[in-house]
Amino acid sequence: MKTPFDTRTFRDALGTFTTGVTIITTLTEEGGQVGLTANSFNSVSLEPPLILWSLAKSSASVPFFTAAKHWNVHVLSAEQEALSTLFATKGEDKFAGLEYEAGLGDVPLLKGCAARFQCRTAFTHDGGDHIIFIGEVLGFDKSDRPPLVYQNGRYALTATKPREDVSLSSSSIAVESGYTEDLLGYLLGRAHYQMIHNMQSRFQQHGLNEQQFFILSVLCIQDGLTLEQLNRFIDYTGQRVTVEEMDSLVQKELIALDTKGLQYQLTGEGREVSVHNIAQAKAIEESLVDQLGDGDVMALKLLLKRLVVKTDPGLPDLWSDKKEEI
Ligand SMILES: Cc1cc2nc3c(=O)[nH]c(=O)nc-3n(C[C@H](O)[C@H](O)[C@H](O)COP(=O)(O)O)c2cc1C
Repeated sequence: MKTPFDTRTFRDALGTFTTGVTIITTLTEEGGQVGLTANSFNSVSLEPPLILWSLAKSSASVPFFTAAKHWNVHVLSAEQEALSTLFATKGEDKFAGLEYEAGLGDVPLLKGCAARFQCRTAFTHDGGDHIIFIGEVLGFDKSDRPPLVYQNGRYALTATKPREDVSLSSSSIAVESGYTEDLLGYLLGRAHYQMIHNMQSRFQQHGLNEQQFFILSVLCIQDGLTLEQLNRFIDYTGQRVTVEEMDSLVQKELIALDTKGLQYQLTGEGREVSVHNIAQAKAIEESLVDQLGDGDVMALKLLLKRLVVKTDPGLPDLWSDKKEEI
């Protein structure tokens, strides 16, 4: 049988079918570890418990899997993209430095996965340029980690499609200005203010405004900044901190100027207030994780980070740039 159409286009069309990503491991007869990345995995039967995957006949792993009795399927978690890339690379010592356990027949069981299935070969079938392995599942385990996804030749993340009535362009009101409830700027702004709403009472308790909260948070990460350096870190807010604003924090004894009168540092109390503020921000995030789930929060964060990178005018990175370099 010859492919009656262009293989590349055929592959691209198949790539629209979104899958998870697995790593399948086994042992050679000499006890060497073998493994490869595969997204051809699928469920077959519940009773008896059967799964399948297919292996390219061109793969160096063919003799090992055809001889093996046992093999393990690892459904990768969203954090295991690097592992997927490693096991999709030919000629690497894929297991060097990896932590794994011994599964049935001593076959390597990798850690940190979304799910793992320990199998024995039930059948193999010829599948054109692939061999189809059907495995009987002898054991499995599952975690709550969100899965890694593969679509159109790229890694992806899942975000739950809400069952409740949340959808885009749901507004039936024709707004002539084009300012609809789905405008990205509106959504980002509203989400931000709704999220930090619960922080307001804390700010008030310490007589702080939102900007002063930012100042304390920045100094909590990079202590000992001049006003100019500090302003560069919060430039993205479009606001500038004034000497008067810093003076008010000095009067509250939350920050202090160094002996040269140039750099601002957190006082013991300032650090304590700041650490508590950040703890509350984290608690707000945790309650959001409870409501949205780990996977959606991870997807949301990654999309927001992409947006931050795309719209970044070249600001210093608070978490990595050293003060001297600003
Ligand atoms: C996301 C992804 C999915 C893959 N799925 C399969 C698959 O289902 N079957 C297969 O034989 N190769 C698949 N590959 C390619 C193999 O992982 C790759 O050829 C690997 O080098 C094979 O290892 P080996 O040469 O050491 O046997 C996939 C690669 C990636 C990145």
